[in-house]
Amino acid sequence: MRPHFPLAADTTYLNHGTVGVAPKRVLAAKIALIEEMERAPSRFMLRELSGEMPAPWRQGPTRMREAAGKVASFVGARADDLVFTPNVTAALNAVLRYFPLERGDEILTTDLAYGAITNAALYRARETGAVVNVIRMPYPTTPSAARDAIVEAYGPRTRLAIVDHITSESALLLPLAEIVAALKARGAAVLVDGAHAPGAIELDVPSLGADWYGANLHKWCHAPRSCGFLWASPELQEGLHPSSISWGLDTEFASRFDWVGTLDPSNYLAAPEGIALLREWNFEAVRDYMHRLAWEGARHLAERWDVELGMPEEMVGTMATVPLPERAGTGHEDAERLRLALLTEDKIEIQLHAFRGRLWVRLSAQVYNDMADVERLAEAVLRRV
Ligand SMILES: Cc1ncc(COP(=O)(O)O)c(C=O)c1O
Repeated sequence: MRPHFPLAADTTYLNHGTVGVAPKRVLAAKIALIEEMERAPSRFMLRELSGEMPAPWRQGPTRMREAAGKVASFVGARADDLVFTPNVTAALNAVLRYFPLERGDEILTTDLAYGAITNAALYRARETGAVVNVIRMPYPTTPSAARDAIVEAYGPRTRLAIVDHITSESALLLPLAEIVAALKARGAAVLVDGAHAPGAIELDVPSLGADWYGANLHKWCHAPRSCGFLWASPELQEGLHPSSISWGLDTEFASRFDWVGTLDPSNYLAAPEGIALLREWNFEAVRDYMHRLAWEGARHLAERWDVELGMPEEMVGTMATVPLPERAGTGHEDAERLRLALLTEDKIEIQLHAFRGRLWVRLSAQVYNDMADVERLAEAVLRRV
């Protein structure tokens, strides 16, 4: 599968989960869209894109709604409930900015959440006098231990919980529907960080029961960067705006987000090409290949490094996090030194971080990876630590 991607031939790229690479065909679709746009820029941007002005030559939905509809159908949603955002960060910031909070209210999140998203919650808490409760998650873990830790942290002032579908550095697929149901039964609103879910696992967003679901399409869904989405349950769309207010103020949910001023829409409009490719490649087979490589790869690394994995297979999607031998170091500086050496000297790009006094790698398994990549990493680390 590697020839489908523009990756440099001299690098072992095991970091798709951090910065994904778009397939060549998707990049070609994006360039074709840009060329089409530049042939008649005003017509495309003002009349066809989101319907700011009439386009009598076109039938059916605007370009943005057409693309959003294709993404929505891939994740089980209605087109009207899904809007494009540049990334999941923008999607979650929009919800945080709109969600009403008072002094002493609590936003619940975990120490496995992505740091930048926790920052967004902290910023909102500063503005409102709310507090952010970052709970310590059990690790090693199981689905029920993870679920119980989050649900039991619900308290009388919890108003909003931010829950990961697949956690970031630890790469754990959480039992999201169960967590959402329990939190909502207790009275919390639930905002999901689904950064790593679309294209990595089978996804039916509305059935998860959350209030809002933000995600990236530029990681596992093969969209060009920058491309994410925000799904909002129909009764929670009023008052929810993008972080930059534009002409959509006081219009419907979708049109508020479809025209946020003159931004390049080519990534959004090319997103359906990534989904078309996944379907052509047989999405089920692709998922199965990536999952097996992540899990078997993690087991292989654990065996080569003589370490224990901290999660069962059911918590692994397309990424798996593996501890390094203890002698590799303990802190951020050790992690950065080793990561840089792997990159510059061994030409291996891998997410490598410090967590709870130990170093870990997060292995990303895309269709262009195979076990030879994993073994190259195993061997390079053993040579260095
Ligand atoms: C769980 C999680 N949330 C949010 C993000 C942020 O993604 P972006 O920078 O594309 O908004 C990441 C990035 O890796 C992530 O892992």
